[in-house]
Amino acid sequence: VSDHLIDTFDRQHNYLRISLTERCNLRCTYCMPEEGVPLTPTQQLLTTQEILTLAELFVRQGVTKIRLTGGEPTVRPDITTIIQGIGRLKQHGLQSMGMTTNGIALKRKLQDFSSFGLDALNVSLDTLDPAMFQIMTRRNGFDKVMGAIEEALRVGIPCIKINCVVMRGVNDDQVLDFVALTKTMPVRVRFIEYMPFDGNRWKHNKLVPYQELIDRIESKVGVGLIKCKDDAHDTTKLYKVPGYLGSVGFITSMTNHFCHTCNRIRITADGNIKVCLFGNAEVSLRDILRKNNGDYSEQELLSIIGAAVKKKKKQHAGIASIVSLVVSAYHLWPVCPS
Ligand code: GTP
Ligand code: 5AD
Ligand code: SF4
Repeated sequence: VSDHLIDTFDRQHNYLRISLTERCNLRCTYCMPEEGVPLTPTQQLLTTQEILTLAELFVRQGVTKIRLTGGEPTVRPDITTIIQGIGRLKQHGLQSMGMTTNGIALKRKLQDFSSFGLDALNVSLDTLDPAMFQIMTRRNGFDKVMGAIEEALRVGIPCIKINCVVMRGVNDDQVLDFVALTKTMPVRVRFIEYMPFDGNRWKHNKLVPYQELIDRIESKVGVGLIKCKDDAHDTTKLYKVPGYLGSVGFITSMTNHFCHTCNRIRITADGNIKVCLFGNAEVSLRDILRKNNGDYSEQELLSIIGAAVKKKKKQHAGIASIVSLVVSAYHLWPVCPS
């Protein structure tokens, strides 16, 4: 990567996550209140062209992986155009284009997404029980999400992951059902440690540490899980039940963070660069792009990006910093930790 994307701890940032919107068509209880969250006025959000301009710039600087996130990225009307535009960057150094989605409005779009180069789909699904889905997301739609996952397998998206946030006393009794799904489905189910907040009150008692989940799975399945090789920059510790087609992983943000190998930078829906999920520091790239009626200086953009990356901290300050961030973020923007 170019020097602009290397921080003072020599971490090379070749993975860009672009949030396309703050909106969502679900209301997961751990993420949003029923009434939703205050939304940024549309004119302050990045346009289709601004997103593609930034994506292209970052790929020229050495980014090889882009993931589209939200809110829920599929609620953007221009989602297919964005995927098509970013997909073209695969001829210029981009190696992977992914999306993190709740899968509700996905199925009919998948064939196009796949043909434009979407290769890594992460679908959020916290339960395999339709009634519990309604309770956890405050909406119906379980069948739609399962239908989307099946369609993703059918159209041949190479890497399909299911994100399951585990909450004690809510859905932690479903863990074995998710593991069973991997017997016949070639997907990666990832159990995410709940980052507990509930309004302003943290519910630490709902966090299930990943080691406890591993113990429970092994004792129920009756065999040890096989440890798979983890990708160098992955958030996930990956395992497999012997003989199963899929795999199971654990995202251990709370009990075992992975900051030292972080290669991620983010752009928010309103065009700020953010160098850490758990940091408040954001600088606007949108304002530069809109200078002089769009006749902006790429040099200025790059120096702002470089300065932001150089300020990146070694690691997040543990639970205390997450508490203050998530609690404050709760009032400001969707906290789906995209
Ligand atoms: P890939 O590795 O590209 O598959 O994506 P991912 O697993 O990083 O991202 P995804 O959007 O599927 O998010 C899944 C979970 O990963 C989120 O709930 C977060 O808890 C966690 N996560 C994503 N990015 C970060 C990060 O930069 N730092 C930390 N600590 N957690 C992250
Ligand atoms: N703790 C852990 N994961 C969360 N997600 C949303 N809110 C939380 C939270 N409080 C997950 C979503 C999605 C991913 C991007 O983040 O379920 O899969
Ligand atoms: Fe929507 Fe994701 Fe938040 Fe659920 S966790 S309400 S799917 S943004």
